[in-house]
Amino acid sequence: MKKVQVLIALLFVVIALHAQDAKMNAFITNLMNKMTLDEKIGQLNLPGSGDIVTGQASNSDIGKKIKDGAVGGLFNIKTVAKIRAVQKVAVEESRLKIPLIFGMDVIHGYETVFPIPLGLSCSWDMKEIETSARVAATEASADGICWTFSPMVDICRDPRWGRIAEGNGEDAYLGSQIAKAMVKGYQGDYSKNTNIMACVKHYALYGAAEAGRDYNTTDMSRVRMYNEYLPPYKAAVDAGVGSVMASFNEVDGVPATANKFLMTDVLRKQWGFKGFTVTDYTGIPEMIEHGLGDLQTVSALALKAGIDMDMVGEGFLTTLKKSLKEGKVTQAEIDNACRLILEAKYKLGLFDNPYKYCDEKRAATEIFTDANRKTAREIAADCFVLLKNQNNILPLKKSGTIALVGPLADNKENMPGTWSVAADFSKATSLLEGLKSVAGATAKIVYAKGSNLDYDAAYEERAGMFGKSLGRDSRPAADIIQEAVNISKDADVIVAALGESAEMTGESSSRSDIEMPQAQKDLLQALLKTGKPVVLVLFTGRPLAIKWENDNVPSILNVWFGGSEAGPAIADVLFGDVNPSGKLSTTWPQNVGQIPLYYNHKNTGRPLPDGKWFQKFRSNYLDVSNDPVYPFGYGLSYTNFSYGDLKLSSTSLKGNQQLTATVTLTNNGSKDGKEVVQLYIRDLVGSITRPVKELKGFQKVFLKAGESKEVSFTITTNDLKFYNGDLKYDWEAGDFVIMVGGNSRDVKSAKVNWVK
Ligand code: BGC
Repeated sequence: MKKVQVLIALLFVVIALHAQDAKMNAFITNLMNKMTLDEKIGQLNLPGSGDIVTGQASNSDIGKKIKDGAVGGLFNIKTVAKIRAVQKVAVEESRLKIPLIFGMDVIHGYETVFPIPLGLSCSWDMKEIETSARVAATEASADGICWTFSPMVDICRDPRWGRIAEGNGEDAYLGSQIAKAMVKGYQGDYSKNTNIMACVKHYALYGAAEAGRDYNTTDMSRVRMYNEYLPPYKAAVDAGVGSVMASFNEVDGVPATANKFLMTDVLRKQWGFKGFTVTDYTGIPEMIEHGLGDLQTVSALALKAGIDMDMVGEGFLTTLKKSLKEGKVTQAEIDNACRLILEAKYKLGLFDNPYKYCDEKRAATEIFTDANRKTAREIAADCFVLLKNQNNILPLKKSGTIALVGPLADNKENMPGTWSVAADFSKATSLLEGLKSVAGATAKIVYAKGSNLDYDAAYEERAGMFGKSLGRDSRPAADIIQEAVNISKDADVIVAALGESAEMTGESSSRSDIEMPQAQKDLLQALLKTGKPVVLVLFTGRPLAIKWENDNVPSILNVWFGGSEAGPAIADVLFGDVNPSGKLSTTWPQNVGQIPLYYNHKNTGRPLPDGKWFQKFRSNYLDVSNDPVYPFGYGLSYTNFSYGDLKLSSTSLKGNQQLTATVTLTNNGSKDGKEVVQLYIRDLVGSITRPVKELKGFQKVFLKAGESKEVSFTITTNDLKFYNGDLKYDWEAGDFVIMVGGNSRDVKSAKVNWVK
């Protein structure tokens, strides 16, 4: 097509979109003209269904409220039959017959569960991540859901925070790519009944909770906020996300729920967000505890700040009318919020067909299908990270005797991981089942539990909430260990399935100690003493401080919580049917005292000299080096990748020229494999201090054994941009170090000069 033809085609698209918008606006204006004030306020109300419990309070009399037009949507209600019944009440028994929007926390899959988001992020595979969202949307929509409270994109550099499991790690660039992929996977263009609306959360900075304690205060400079924490939310907005959820925390002393700077100035004015905003669970009444006033005051503050929908809190429902009368909010503010919610329903097609997502046939045939489970198994295997593999203990042979030991080895319920609210845990596959099915009859698998999760039964109970019990073994710890040692005596290899239970991460699951529980460490020591090769299969929802394990255990495969197909997926990797290719999206510290430890830190005025881990009057600790156990971007393979020197197309550039950075990647090993080639840039001199490196690109490359390939990145001045001290997004002329490598520590580098 010629340029003119393309322009004409584009013009037609713009005209068509305008016509669609005009049609929608006219429809909504007409509807709103018929609505009473109570009905408008009703649209802003989002109660929980009580089906799935994700918070403390719950609402009562929902049926009556729906008939009265006092409900805009309902969340966490499960099954198409129930949703159809509730929708029927809304569209047949309420005065204006406005359909409800049905939301759910479909965070990493619906009934077919994918790895927890932190695990998914370690695939560094945007196609797979988008597919996981697509499958989740297909299954959820088959069961009546049209809105998901995902993606969660909170940057987190503090593994004490339990919700690190729900996000994409510590890096804004990687997090932004994932945010886009997820929004695309869920929403598509809304045209089909498999497309559901996404809700990016928790806006903003929730992952920067002080001391990693959930719901705690956050406070940071604007420069850090714009450069390091806001980009993933913005990426979701740029990708057209339909809704945004406010976070629980305060920012600049004002809870996000009442924070006009966040909700209006940044989100709408600077980023041009056109969808609707929703509070988090009881976000409005919680502002009474924050100390901002009574329910009427905080509800008015939220509306004025730019909040459209009130999840569970019922502050809008019970106080906005009074506030309007008293001049504390305006009719225009209520109308605006109501319009945005109606627009969302319109875009989803609910006014055309309120039962668009209520297709019983789909519910019966499209959920937890063999095809979806196969996809989940393949994706899960790509998320596991091989942390250590001394003497190539892995992959295991499908022969001989394997002793499988550990509190997480014969357990289904913990496999899906936190926030698997729609899953049927009994359908998940345990590691024991997975090993047996993948090894077949040629290998003998013997099993013993070896230890409880923790010596402290009360702690174990807290960590096993929501019915995901580990089944505590009441025998003395020494006896449980001895049994495991006994069964290991005749084994060729020991596989120790240890780590955290699913609910040791997720909401309200922060830990001040991020080591492996002592009961399991004692078991591991006993297993190592047998002299048999030990493979640690580590279950975790956060980076753990496993320096001792790294120093002493020959092989470590981190498997996060791999979803409903975790068992076979782990077995696929352990037996080498799949070569591991995951890379960490977080830094793993040596101990909790190093936190926050992240790869893109500043240099400080007193950095350590090369080759030293301590020097007086330098930025370091007396008792531990500044190094992590595993750096960001790290992960091994069963094959070996080597990087040739970095070649640059030029070392001095001007203005909008482009730079090409190329390395030759070689698979020197004996197995085919995938490698994530990572591009980092350092801006050596800036008007504000700049990080020692920042991820700016990556490619996941497949190479056959013995194969070599040139991998190139095109770098433009866009990759050099940052928010300066005036929060202006631009690049500055000067010297830059370009780095390419297989993790953030081991890179090939070269310098360029780039002038304006
Ligand atoms: C969580 C949100 C979640 C909401 C609804 C809250 O407690 O913070 O992430 O979407 O509950 O279940």
